[in-house]
Amino acid sequence: MLQKIQQTINYIRQCIDFEPEVGIILGTGLGNLANDIQVEKTLSYADIPNFPVSTVQGHKGQLVFGMLSGKKVVAMQGRFHFYEGYSMEQVTYPVRVLKMLGIKMLIVSNASGGMNTSFQVGDIMVITDHINHFGTNPLIGKNYDEFGPRFPEMSEAYDKRFIKLAFEVAEKNNIHLQKGVYIGVTGPTFETPAEYKFFHIAGADAVGMSTVPEVIVARHMSLPVFALSVITDMGIGTTEKPTHEEVQKAAAAAEPKMTLVIKEMLKEL
Ligand code: HPA
Repeated sequence: MLQKIQQTINYIRQCIDFEPEVGIILGTGLGNLANDIQVEKTLSYADIPNFPVSTVQGHKGQLVFGMLSGKKVVAMQGRFHFYEGYSMEQVTYPVRVLKMLGIKMLIVSNASGGMNTSFQVGDIMVITDHINHFGTNPLIGKNYDEFGPRFPEMSEAYDKRFIKLAFEVAEKNNIHLQKGVYIGVTGPTFETPAEYKFFHIAGADAVGMSTVPEVIVARHMSLPVFALSVITDMGIGTTEKPTHEEVQKAAAAAEPKMTLVIKEMLKEL
C-alpha cells in the first residue's frame, strides 16, 4: 500500500506544485462547493494512478486543487462508497493520499436519514460522534505503523474546536445547525422502520452510507476531522419513502447554507 500511495503522490506532484492545507470530501448533491474554489488544477480520478473511479449518478470524480476562503484546499468531487463494491481500502485510499499531500484537516459532508424527531428534512447536522455499523473496519489487516497505531483511540473522532467554530459561524450568519451522532451503514437499502427505530434507540440521530470509514482512516493518521450531514429524509415520524432523487433534491436545497458554513469556518482557521 505504501508503494501504491507513493506512486499516486508522485503523479499528483508532477501535475501540480501545490501543498493543500485542508482536504474536503464533497458528498451527495454537495459537489458544487467546488464551484467556489479558485481552481488551480483539477485531476480526474481516472488519470490518477491507483485511484478508484466513481460510478454513482451525480458524482463527478475529480480532485480539485485551489483556494477557498484564502486557504489552500483539495476537494474530492465524488467519493467511493462501500455499497458500490469498493473494498474498505479503496473507499479510504484518497484520505491516505490527501494526508500524504500535506492536509492538516479533513472536512467531510454527506446526506443522511434523520431519526431525531426534532430534525426536519433540509436540516444540517454537525456530526459530533459516530457509530460504525458497517460490520467491518477499514483498518482490519496489516497495520502500517508509518500511518498510525494498531489500536487507534476514537474518543474525539470529530474535533471539538471545529464543532464550536461551526456553531459560532452559524450563529453569526443566522443559520440553524443541528448536532448529533451519525451511524454509518453499508446500504444500499434504506432502512426498514424497525431499523430506523433500532438505530435511534442505539443513540444515533442520523443514518447514512458513508463517512465513517474515511473518518476512521483520518483519525488513524491523527488528522482532525469536521463533518456535516444534510438530513435528506426522515426515518421516524413519517410515512414518506426515501428515494435517491429526494435525497439529491434535499441535499441541493441545503447546499447554500452548508457551503456558507464551511467557507466562513475556513476564514477563521
Ligand atoms: N438511510 C441511509 N442513508 C441515507 C439516508 C437514509 O435514510 N438518507 C440519505 N442517505
